[in-house]
Amino acid sequence: MNKTDKTGTFYGIGVGPGEQGLLPVLAWEALQKCGAIFVPRATSQEGSTAKGCLPAHTLPEARFHEVEFDMSTDHGALLARYTTMAEQIAAHLRAGRDVAYLTLGDSMTYSTFNYTLRAVRATCPEAPWRVFPGVSSYAALAAATGFPLGEGKERVLILPCPESMETLERALARHDITVLMKIGRRLPEVLSLLDRMHLTEQAAFGGRVGMPDAVCQLGVEGLLTAPPSGYLSTMLIRNPAPLPL
Ligand SMILES: C[S@@+](CC[C@H](N)C(=O)[O-])C[C@H]1O[C@@H](n2cnc3c(N)ncnc32)[C@H](O)[C@@H]1O
Repeated sequence: MNKTDKTGTFYGIGVGPGEQGLLPVLAWEALQKCGAIFVPRATSQEGSTAKGCLPAHTLPEARFHEVEFDMSTDHGALLARYTTMAEQIAAHLRAGRDVAYLTLGDSMTYSTFNYTLRAVRATCPEAPWRVFPGVSSYAALAAATGFPLGEGKERVLILPCPESMETLERALARHDITVLMKIGRRLPEVLSLLDRMHLTEQAAFGGRVGMPDAVCQLGVEGLLTAPPSGYLSTMLIRNPAPLPL
């Protein structure tokens, strides 16, 4: 790629987190001007979920670069992956092209974009960058179910689901509202705990919120006998009588 005097801008853009076309107007305007668009794709998925949240067939296919992630827990392997991708992004930026990296939901919330931004800034410190916030999964679920995410001085905890249900029980006991993310295979255990704590009526469940096969509901009693998949799922849990902190 040729060098130019003007370095392109690197954009982080949060989309979805499921519904097609759900992204800020400013982000959409910036995205349309990007010569290269990097989209993450889990190895287990056929296509990029983030890319699927863009308005259909509006941008030339040639601009998209899929980056495959195998959710490896090997930190060294992940770091190498981000460094290689940052070098590819930097090559476009140095050639004067604006580059976007799409993330599902909000760009800065538990997002792989955080690693990407760090790696791009280290590799190409001269490039300007801007992050457009997106709609987080829990904001999308709150909107879909009419669940208030904090009223007055209520305390809201955002928590990746712990392995131990005792840890989760303690957290639920101490907050007015708990936003539970990254539930995965622990969903049946979480639902049983909510049942024991008499919180099933005060909880909302969102699986694949905004997608055509979304499961979204206020009150989770009905999920106890046949829990849906916990993959890409989030819960909002209200404790009507939290303990003092
Ligand atoms: C790596 S984090 C990404 C968070 C995302 N950046 C956000 O703003 O919500 C993945 C977790 O986000 C939540 N999530 C992402 N998309 C979702 C969706 N469409 N429906 C429900 N939960 C979702 C799930 O809790 C999932 O385990």
